Amino acid sequence: MSDPSSGFEVFVNFGEQRRRDVSFLISVILWLKQSDVHVHLEVGGRVLINNKVVTLSSSVQDFNGVKISKNENGVTASFITSKLSISVFLDCHTAQIYMESPLGYSADGLCFDSSNTSQSRLAQSASCEVQYSDDPDSCVNCTLATKRCNMLTKAPFASYNANIDPTPYINACKETMCKYPSEDGLMTQFLWAYARACSLYGNNDLGDWWTKAECSPPKAFCMDKLCSDHEFCGWNINGQPACLCRALFAYKYKKSNTLGEPTVCKHNTASVTLAKCLLEEKCIDYKVLHLNDPTCKGALDNQTNMVTFSFNTQNLCGAEISYEENTIDYVNTIKSQNNTGLITRNDQVFIEFSCYRPQPELKSVCFRIKDNSYVGNRSCGEWNYTVYMMPYIDAKCSKAVATETDVKLNQKVWVELKTYGLDDDSIAVVTDSCWATSDPNPDSTPRYDLIIDGCANPEDETVQVTGNGIGTSNRFSFNMFEFSRHPDKIYMHCQLELCLTKKHNCVPVCSSGKRRRRFARSTYSKGESAYISMGWSK
Ligand SMILES: *[C@@H]1O[C@H](CO)[C@@H](O)[C@H](O)[C@H]1NC(C)=O
Ligand SMILES: *[C@@H]1O[C@H](CO)[C@@H](O)[C@H](O)[C@H]1NC(C)=O
Ligand SMILES: *[C@@H]1O[C@H](CO)[C@@H](O)[C@H](O)[C@H]1NC(C)=O
Ligand SMILES: *[C@@H]1O[C@H](CO)[C@@H](O)[C@H](O)[C@H]1NC(C)=O
Ligand SMILES: *[C@@H]1O[C@H](CO)[C@@H](O)[C@H](O)[C@H]1NC(C)=O
Ligand SMILES: *[C@@H]1O[C@H](CO)[C@@H](O)[C@H](O)[C@H]1NC(C)=O
Repeated sequence: MSDPSSGFEVFVNFGEQRRRDVSFLISVILWLKQSDVHVHLEVGGRVLINNKVVTLSSSVQDFNGVKISKNENGVTASFITSKLSISVFLDCHTAQIYMESPLGYSADGLCFDSSNTSQSRLAQSASCEVQYSDDPDSCVNCTLATKRCNMLTKAPFASYNANIDPTPYINACKETMCKYPSEDGLMTQFLWAYARACSLYGNNDLGDWWTKAECSPPKAFCMDKLCSDHEFCGWNINGQPACLCRALFAYKYKKSNTLGEPTVCKHNTASVTLAKCLLEEKCIDYKVLHLNDPTCKGALDNQTNMVTFSFNTQNLCGAEISYEENTIDYVNTIKSQNNTGLITRNDQVFIEFSCYRPQPELKSVCFRIKDNSYVGNRSCGEWNYTVYMMPYIDAKCSKAVATETDVKLNQKVWVELKTYGLDDDSIAVVTDSCWATSDPNPDSTPRYDLIIDGCANPEDETVQVTGNGIGTSNRFSFNMFEFSRHPDKIYMHCQLELCLTKKHNCVPVCSSGKRRRRFARSTYSKGESAYISMGWSK
C-alpha cells in the first residue's frame, strides 16, 4: 500500500510454513519516505528500525514519529501524516492495518487500486513467481473447516456483520484451512482477527466467542519466539510452540529422509550439520545429542540455527578407525544421551558418519624427469592428501633431479615418497614395492625390482630403503642402471600402502642376508591398485 502524496509505503512479506502452497504473513514493513525511516515488524514481536533491533515495552515509544508499543498479544505501530492516521497491529499470524482518512481519499495498493502492485514488489519477491502444489493432507477435513470458518456469520459475530463484512475473513479462513493441517491452532487465529476488527468498533461485547466457536482460547503463542529465516513458529508434536522448518527449506531433507547436510570431510576434520528445526519437529533437543565421546556436543550457529557435530584427527571424539579394503575409515556417531529411564517418549537418535582416507591409486601417467616431477592428487572420499615421488642426486635430498640434471649410470639416486595431509599420529606410509620398466605400463616387461614386500631387493646390493612404515614419508636409494635392450627410458613405479600405526606394526621386517624373508602378513594389508610411477629418459 502506498500514498505518494504523504510519502509512506506499507509492504507485507509472505512465506510458506508447513506446506509450500499456503502462504502466511512473515513481516510488515513501513517506509516513511520523508524521514527515511524503515520500520520492520516481524511476527513474534521483533521490531527493527532502519535494520537495528529495538527493545520495546508496553509503554509507547516514539521512533522518528512512529509510535510503537508491545504487549503479550502483539506489536502496534502508528503514525500520523497531514491527512491520515495509520496504525498497524501485528501478532503471530495476522496484520491489521487501520487507516483513518478524509472522505474520498484513495491510496495505491492491494486494498485500493492494485494495478500497480507488481511494480512495487520487494526485491526478494522473485520467489512469488514459482507456484507450488503439494499433495493434499489427508487429515484436513474441508467440510469441517468450512463449517467452522462460517461461524463468523453466526452469534456472537453476526451482530458485527453489517459493519465489517466477514466475507474476506471467511474466504481466507476456508482457503487456508481446507489445505493446511490444524496443528498450529490457526482456526482460532482467523476468528480472532475478525474479533479484533470488531473491537475497533467500540465496545467489544463478543464475550468468550472461542467457547461458542469450539476453539482454543486466543493466545499469541509465538510472541518472542524468534526463529531464523528458514523457520516459522508453529506447534511441535507436543503442542508446544517451536521453530519449525519452512516447507521449502525442509523439502530436500524430507525427500531424502535426512536431518541435515551430508558429511563434510575437510582439512582432517569431519563434520555433519543438522537443521535445528528438523530436530525440533521430532522433539529432539540438539543439546542431548553427542558423538561417541559424550563430551563432544553439537555447536549451534545462532544465525542459521544449524547444529554442527565434528571431530578431527587430533580430537577424535571417540571415532573408530578401521582398515577397510582400500580405505582407512574414521567412523563416529551422533546419538542421544543414554536412556536411563524405564520408557522413552523421544526418538532415539543414531546418525553414523565417517570420513575415509583412500589408498594411493595407480598413477597411470608416468612422468619423465625431463618434463618435471609429477604430483598426484588424491581427493577420493573427501579427506584428500597428496603423494609426491621425487628423485634426488644427494643423500640430503636437496638436489632434485630436474630437467637439465644429468644422471650417470651407476650414479646413486635417492627417491623420496612424500605425502602431505596425513595425520602421522595414526598413519604410516609403507612403500610395498618399487620396480622399473622400460615402458610406461607398470605391468610391462622387462621388469626390474628394487623394493619387494617393503624390503630392498636382496639381489641388488645398491638398494637401500629408509624410514619405511615409520612416518608419512620414506625414501630409497639405488644406483642408476639402464635396460640393456631398451637403453633409452626407465619408468619407476611404486606401490604404497597406508597403515594404521596403532593397530599394526607398519615397519616391514627385512632380513639382512641375501635370502629375504617375507615379513608377517599381519602387518599391513595390501590394496589392489596403489602405485605411483615416474619415468627416466635420456
Ligand atoms: C501505475 O503506474 C504507472 C506507471 O508507473 C503510472 O503512470 C500510474 O499513474 C500508476 N497508477 C496508479 C493508480 O498509481
Ligand atoms: C468431516 O467433518 C464432518 C463434520 O464434522 C463430519 O461429518 C465428517 O464425517 C468428517 N469427515 C471425515 C472424513 O472425517
Ligand atoms: C550468537 O552467538 C554469538 C557468539 O557465540 C554471541 O556473541 C551472540 O550474542 C549470539 N547472539 C544471540 C542472538 O544469541
Ligand atoms: C552409556 O551407556 C554405556 C553402556 O551402558 C556406558 O558405557 C556409557 O558410559 C554411557 N554414557 C553416558 C553418557 O552415560
Ligand atoms: C591437484 O588439485 C588441485 C586443487 O584441487 C588442482 O588445481 C591440481 O590441478 C591437481 N593436480 C593434479 C596433478 O591433478
Ligand atoms: C585438499 O584440497 C584442498 C582444495 O580442494 C586444498 O586446499 C588442500 O590443500 C588439500 N589438502 C591436501 C592435504 O592436499
